This record gives sequence, C-alpha cells and structure tokens, in this order.
Amino acid sequence: MPTVNPLIAPSMLAADFLHLAKDVELVNEHADLFHLDIMDGVFVPNISYGFPVVEAIASAARKPLDVHLMIVQPEKYIERFARLGVSMLSFHLNATDKPAQALLHIREAGMKAGLVINPDMPVESLYPYLHLCDYIILMSVYAGFGGQKFIEDTFDRIRTLKAEIERQSLPVKIEVDGGVSPANAKALLEAGAEILVAGSAVFKAEDPASVMNAMRN
Ligand code: DX5
Ligand code: ZN
Repeated sequence: MPTVNPLIAPSMLAADFLHLAKDVELVNEHADLFHLDIMDGVFVPNISYGFPVVEAIASAARKPLDVHLMIVQPEKYIERFARLGVSMLSFHLNATDKPAQALLHIREAGMKAGLVINPDMPVESLYPYLHLCDYIILMSVYAGFGGQKFIEDTFDRIRTLKAEIERQSLPVKIEVDGGVSPANAKALLEAGAEILVAGSAVFKAEDPASVMNAMRN
C-alpha cells in the first residue's frame, strides 16, 4: 500500500493552448502541481514552449510549478525560472557536465532540485547525486513527446531506486513521467512513486477532473 498521499501533476503539454486558462483552472481545482515540459529541439528532437507560456501559467496558477527541463545547458536558466516563481526545477543527468553544481544552484535559488533519467539510463547513475536531490523523475517513456506508451520496466526501476533512497535514509521523492493513467497509477504508487505526471490521460479525456481524482485514489 502507498504510505503517502500522491501528488498529481498534469503535464500542460497536452493542454488546449487555445483555451489555456480553462485547463489551468482544472489543475488548480483538481490536482497538486503543474508539470511544465521545456524542450529545446537539441537535447530532445521536439520544441515545446518557453518563458512567455510559463509566465502566463504562473500568473494564474494556485498550485506549485514543477518544471521539467529537456534542454542542453540547464544551468543557464536556473535564476530565470526562480524569478518566475517556479517551485521545482529538474534537468536530465546527461544534459550537463556538472550535475552536482546545478543541483546546488537550484536549491540556492530557493527551488526544489530534481534529476531526470530516460528509460535506458541505469538508476544506479543517480546514486552519487541523491543527497543533492529533492526528487527524481524516472521517465517511463523517452523524453520528447507526449502521448507515448508507458514502458513496463519502470516498476522495477522505481523499486530499485526506492530501496537505495531508503538505504541512504534520504527524503527524496520519486516522480514518474510518461504514459501514466488511472490504469497504472495504483501500481506505480505501490512500487514507491509519490508524484505522478499525466498529460494525455488527463487533458484528452472527456472528464479530466474525474481522471485526476481516479489517479489519486
Ligand atoms: C515527455 C514529457 C512528459 C509528457 C507526458 O517528454 O516529459 O511530461 O508530457 O505526457 P503523457 O502523459 O501524454 O505521456
Ligand atoms: Zn515531463
């Protein structure tokens, strides 16, 4: 059984950008975090959105912003996201030569620091940095696009990482991102995840509110 209340983090990548205010309100009312995917077309083959959109969401958000950077040189933009009022800032382990420094910098800027890995990177590669992280994002699809199929291997990866976090007695939370829906939410929480990101499952649904509630229960 999950021991904590999960945090539900809808990915705004799947929102309706012509009616963004409506989808921001849905998250304000029914979820816990705004998950914002920043892609640069270099670290990943896709480009998502940038500062003007983050700023617009920030101006209406009543829940914390969880920004997932899929960009090269993430350290360049730490201060800028802090100034926008972002609460959680994460970047990919292989996006910089100096992950430890970037994690410290994020914390110094007053945000929670997260490290992200794609499904083909061993969870062991995170171990030297866990004490510098407030959370880890385990990608359950390859970063770059919404709407991909969940990779089943993720359950074992969560369990392995969770065991190491406990061995080191750290308060690090595990976030899972990609292909998450009410169909796998319970099993992910049971494996040790505490934060669930969901884009398509929420915003492409007939009734997004009920999907968010279903993932929590
Ligand atoms: C993928 C992004 C995810 C994505 C999730 O690169 O990091 O946050 O938007 O979307 P779904 O839930 O549709 O897989
Ligand atoms: Zn993401």
